[in-house]
Amino acid sequence: MKHILITAILAISTNSTYASTEAAKTTPTKVGPAKAEVLARGQQIAGAVCVACHGLDGMSAVSGNPNIAGMPEQYIAKQLALFKSGDRKNPIMQGMAANLKTDMPIDEMKALGAYYSMQKPKPNAISHDRGLAESGQKIYRKGIPELKVPACSGCHGGAGAGIPATYPRLAGQWQEYTFAALKSFSSGERKNTQMQAISARMREADMQAVAEYVAGMRNR
Ligand code: HEC
Ligand code: HEC
Repeated sequence: MKHILITAILAISTNSTYASTEAAKTTPTKVGPAKAEVLARGQQIAGAVCVACHGLDGMSAVSGNPNIAGMPEQYIAKQLALFKSGDRKNPIMQGMAANLKTDMPIDEMKALGAYYSMQKPKPNAISHDRGLAESGQKIYRKGIPELKVPACSGCHGGAGAGIPATYPRLAGQWQEYTFAALKSFSSGERKNTQMQAISARMREADMQAVAEYVAGMRNR
């Protein structure tokens, strides 16, 4: 009887050890391929379509096209959805987003977000005007108190790397794009409660200064 009991306990414990090692073995591989599949789909579309303007690595060669490497994945997916719905207007990107599928099994906007968020930002934009960049740095770090403009660092991070999932990366972005984005928020064409309120209080010279500063910010 004692012997049977011990055997039974041994059997159970060996069984459960077996089960847990099996679980440890299968869990990562189960999650792995799904994530890999999503990334592969993102990379495939990036290589076929987005590469022309944003590069395969998310670094755009042209100042009118934003760098998107290392942006929060949810931010990228959200912007693509806004272009598709027409809530964010840009003839080129609205056309691009219209072709992306968001139904199962793989949401292509999320796949592109996942793919580009994993690309490492590299330096491409350069700040040329030191004086302008210095005024921009003040705005970035301290805001413009007399105009009630808050410090950009509060939401976009001290180093401009952005804060997942909501706040996009600004560091290393092309001046021309950052300036255009600020103008677009201030005119109300691009909608976001926080950025509309902030940019509406900025003068054009402030926008130019901060755009010059963030272009030269380096991190990662
Ligand atoms: C023909 C050039 C072109 C192609 C191709 C293109 N884009 Fe764009 N993209 C742009 C331009 C220009 C903008 C800036 C739009 C604006 O000013 O609002 C932009 C903006 C974006 C933004 C918003 C970035 C931000 O910081 O808010 C995302 C995300 C984006 N593109 C992703 C993609 C993806 C993903 C693809 C491929 C499916 C793609 N783009 C293909 C030109 C292009
Ligand atoms: C209270 C938080 C907050 C503060 C402070 C803030 N931002 Fe933003 N900013 C946001 C959010 C949220 C977004 C994303 C909007 C969206 O989803 O379209 C954004 C987007 C932007 C974009 C668009 C980036 C892109 O890739 O298209 C620019 C440019 C920008 N902010 C510049 C600034 C500057 C310059 C300052 C300081 C003067 C500033 N922000 C301060 C919240 C903030």
